[in-house]
Amino acid sequence: MRILITGGAGFIGSHIADRFLREGWLVRIMDSLHPRVHPNGMPKHLAREAEFIPGDVLNRSDWERALEGVEVVSHQAAYQDYVPDYSQFMSTNVVGTALMFEVLAARKLPVARIVVASSQAVYGEGQYLCPQHARVLASPRRLQDLEKGLWEVTCPECGMPANPQLLEESYTNPLSPYGTSKYAQEITALKLANLLRIPCVALRYSITQGPRQSLFNQYSGIARIFTLRLLQGKPPVAFEDGLLQRDYVHVQDVVEANWLVTHDERVVGEAFNVGSGTPTTVLEYAHKLAAKMGKSVDPEVPGIYRLGDARHSVSSVEKLKRLGWRPRRTLDDVLEDFLSWVHGLGNLERYFSDTHQQLLNMDVLRMSHAH
Ligand SMILES: NC(=O)c1ccc[n+]([C@@H]2O[C@H](COP(=O)([O-])OP(=O)(O)OC[C@H]3O[C@@H](n4cnc5c(N)ncnc54)[C@H](O)[C@@H]3O)[C@@H](O)[C@H]2O)c1
Repeated sequence: MRILITGGAGFIGSHIADRFLREGWLVRIMDSLHPRVHPNGMPKHLAREAEFIPGDVLNRSDWERALEGVEVVSHQAAYQDYVPDYSQFMSTNVVGTALMFEVLAARKLPVARIVVASSQAVYGEGQYLCPQHARVLASPRRLQDLEKGLWEVTCPECGMPANPQLLEESYTNPLSPYGTSKYAQEITALKLANLLRIPCVALRYSITQGPRQSLFNQYSGIARIFTLRLLQGKPPVAFEDGLLQRDYVHVQDVVEANWLVTHDERVVGEAFNVGSGTPTTVLEYAHKLAAKMGKSVDPEVPGIYRLGDARHSVSSVEKLKRLGWRPRRTLDDVLEDFLSWVHGLGNLERYFSDTHQQLLNMDVLRMSHAH
C-alpha cells in the first residue's frame, strides 16, 4: 500500500510518515518546504525510506506526479500563521485542496481514502451554556470589551455571563482567517469527495504538541514561545488574563487517530475532533512548563490580546472515542517529550527572533487599556 502525505516534512505529517513506514507502507511525501516553517530547507527528521517530491499544493503537475499510484492521501499541508495575509490561507488551504480533487477527477485515480487535517479553529469563539438561553454559539468578542480587559464571553441573546462547553463537532463557527480557511477546506474536501465517491474524513486537531514542531513559525505557539522565553531567562507572556482555556494533545495521539480513520469504514463523510478533552489555562501551562525546566519564573500578564483568538477552546473527544481511539498521553508527557527534543537540538539562539514585537507592529497583538 502507498500513502501520499502532503506536508509530510512538517511536524504532524512527518510523525504520520514514520507510523505508516513502521507498518510496512510505501510513503510518498509532497511538501514545498515553506520557508516560514523550514528556513533551512529539508529538515533532518524526514525519514530516509520515504519518497520525497518537492511540490506545491497549488501546482497541478506536482499533484499529478504525487497522486500517481497511491491508495491513500493524508492531506496535512497547510498555511498557518497569525500574519494578516488572508488570501494566502484561502489559496493554500482551500484552492490547493480543490485542485487535488480536480486532478483526481481528471485522471480517474483510484484513491480509496483521503484524510484531511482540519482544526479546532473551525469552532471560533466556541459553544457556551447560558442559564436562560441554553446552548449558544458565541459571537466574536467586541473590540471595545477587549480594550477594557473584559475577556469573558457573554450570551449573544441576553448579554449575561455564559459557561464554556466542550466543543462538539456539530456546531462550527470559525472566527480567524486561518479557522475560516480550515473550515472551507474541510467542507470542500468532504463535498467533493462525496461527488467523486472517494471515502474521505476530516480530523479537527486541537493544539498539537511534541518533538519536531517548527521553532521558527510563530503559529507553532505556546510551547515554542514560552520555552524559548524561559531559556533566555525571561518570563513567558500570557495573553489576556492568562485564564484562557485550551487543550493540548500529544502528536502521537494525533498520529493514532490518523491511523484509525485510514482503516475504519464508519468515519466516511464525517469530521472528528482530536484533542485531549481536558482544559488547561495558559497560566497553568506556563507554571507546569517552568517547573519542568527547573525555573521559578512567574509569567507576565500585561493585558495583551491577540486578534482572532478565542477565549476558551477545549474539544470534546467523545465522537472519536466511540470508534476506539482515546488520548493516551497527558500534558506532562507532552511537555517532557517536547523539552527533551528541544534540549537535543543544541544551539538554540537561531530560534530567538522577536516575533512578539513583529506581531505588535502588525497590530495582530494589542494592549488593553485596563493595564
Ligand atoms: N500543529 C497544530 O497544533 C495543528 C492544530 C490544528 C490543525 N493543524 C493542521 O495540521 C496540519 C499539519 O500541521 P503541522 O503543525 O504539522 O504544520 P507544519 O507547518 O509543521 O507542517 C505543514 C507542512 O506543509 C508544508 N506546506 C506549506 N505550504 C505548502 C504548500 N503550498 N504546498 C506543499 N506543502 C506546503 C510546509 O512546508 C510544512 O512542511 C495542517 O493542516 C494544520 O492546519 C495543526
